[in-house]
Amino acid sequence: MKKVNSAKYTCLEVFARQTADGGRVRVLTRKADGSRETLEKPAGANYFAWLKIPLREDTEYEISSEDCEVSLCYLSGGAHPLETGVRYLEKDQADGSFYIVDQTAWYDGPTRETYHFSPWKNWINDPNGLCWFQGYYHMFYQFNPHEQQWSNMYWGHAVSRDLVHWTHLPVVLAPQEEILENQEKVKGGAFSGCAVASDDEVVFYLTRHKGPLQDGEETVEQQWMMQSRDMIRFSEETCVIGQPPQEASFDFRDPKVLRIKERWYMVLGSAIAGQGAILLYESADKKRWEYVCPLVREGKEKIRCFECPDFMELDGKYMVIGAWMEHYDECGRYQMSRYYTGTFKDGEFTVENDGWFDFGSNCYAMQSFEHQGRRISIGWISDFYEEHVPCENGAYGSMTIPRELHIKDGKLYMTPVQEIRALKGKTLYEGKGENIRLPKIEGNAYRAGIRFSENTFFSILLGADGEKSISLVNCEGGLHIVTKGVKSEGVCFKADVEEVRDLEIYVDRRVAEVYVNGGEAAGTKVFYNSSTDGCFALNAETPEHVAWVEVACMKSIWH
Ligand code: FRU
Repeated sequence: MKKVNSAKYTCLEVFARQTADGGRVRVLTRKADGSRETLEKPAGANYFAWLKIPLREDTEYEISSEDCEVSLCYLSGGAHPLETGVRYLEKDQADGSFYIVDQTAWYDGPTRETYHFSPWKNWINDPNGLCWFQGYYHMFYQFNPHEQQWSNMYWGHAVSRDLVHWTHLPVVLAPQEEILENQEKVKGGAFSGCAVASDDEVVFYLTRHKGPLQDGEETVEQQWMMQSRDMIRFSEETCVIGQPPQEASFDFRDPKVLRIKERWYMVLGSAIAGQGAILLYESADKKRWEYVCPLVREGKEKIRCFECPDFMELDGKYMVIGAWMEHYDECGRYQMSRYYTGTFKDGEFTVENDGWFDFGSNCYAMQSFEHQGRRISIGWISDFYEEHVPCENGAYGSMTIPRELHIKDGKLYMTPVQEIRALKGKTLYEGKGENIRLPKIEGNAYRAGIRFSENTFFSILLGADGEKSISLVNCEGGLHIVTKGVKSEGVCFKADVEEVRDLEIYVDRRVAEVYVNGGEAAGTKVFYNSSTDGCFALNAETPEHVAWVEVACMKSIWH
């Protein structure tokens, strides 16, 4: 049997479900005098029960499970949980005992990002509750700890000191018990939400969803609130908005709260009369909320709901962003996010300009927060073209590099936060005036910075795997990401820019993120590779216009 030393951890958390009657998790301690102590907890009969088993510090344990399936298991607690995070355990297939897994090796597979945040395993979607509180950036996220597909929702949690390196923390919220007990009939859980941080407290708003497997009029989405003072213990939730306004659909979720002057506002994603709509609520005390009116309505056809809206004041303007659920745009892109900039007066938002948030359409449900004058956003790197390749112990989904947002002349600009530069590793190429071929980049995690002295047509290869490839192409039709041999082939991932002068490209195993002209456009696209080697090639029609190129490795954040 493998042994686990609890070190400074004080709790074992296990998500376990019976595979046969009597399935259980067993923790065995051998005391100093040689005697043994065994603690057993029954696994969930039909669903993964979340077991919390107290441990003593600095003690050796043998941890095993019988007749049950364990989806996630970790050590938690201790005196400084935000610093020590959790330690994940995995099951030894040979003898069934659990052991501590090395994080760096765990995150090192052809389809595991090395410097984009992703969960230990299984399914992740929207970032939730983003904030900075007492020295740490917090990121909560939609999480299914049990498998690599969406199901009833939990909130996962991670913290960072620098927005780059993340420490995993315990799961925070679980689906409602009544949902877990009736999974064949109902679905739901702790859906997306936000955080409002003050000096000594963080207030969270989130949607609790409960409804039939097929969404419809019986679906209930309500807005709930909870608090925390240490980001480890969370209060009970209280319901603050029990039902949608008369004119809105049953899709009624994803609260985002902000303060403008003396008032608190909440935006919610919904639809009115078949049009995607973002609803505005108002409050004086953050607890009692009154419906004001739709903040934005989108006339475009077939947007079922404006999911995960955000609303902010930035660079002297107001900006609203939302994700277009179930919508295909004219390029064939699915579920794009749109931003709207303009003015906000007397509860009314007047749109002056709008544009796409991310031209790659693998970035969804972005959320932003402000810290020390910077507006930072993180988006979910999704897979809307069913390109995900499940692998054992893998993860579905990850998060974009945190982006700093700005508005210039009514247009949204996005750049990776400067902290990301700390990950720059070995330089692979530096030069100008020529085409470049780097056919084998070990580790397939790199950054390429490129400047052009004038707009030139080019093709940049960002990944290849046999017949499959992903490139960034600038041609008569403009700048776009092109995939070949994969399910998204034929979709035109086009950036709304007139010309290309500057590119910042981040490749990280199955993710490519492209920033154009100092943030004028950003595009995220997944591309699954079967190897941990990557490639980069720049083919410009007029190489003399390649003013500067630097390609450098990026270090893993999981050391
Ligand atoms: C967007 C979304 C949200 C919802 C959550 C559920 O990806 O559908 O609208 O709150 O995911 O996981």
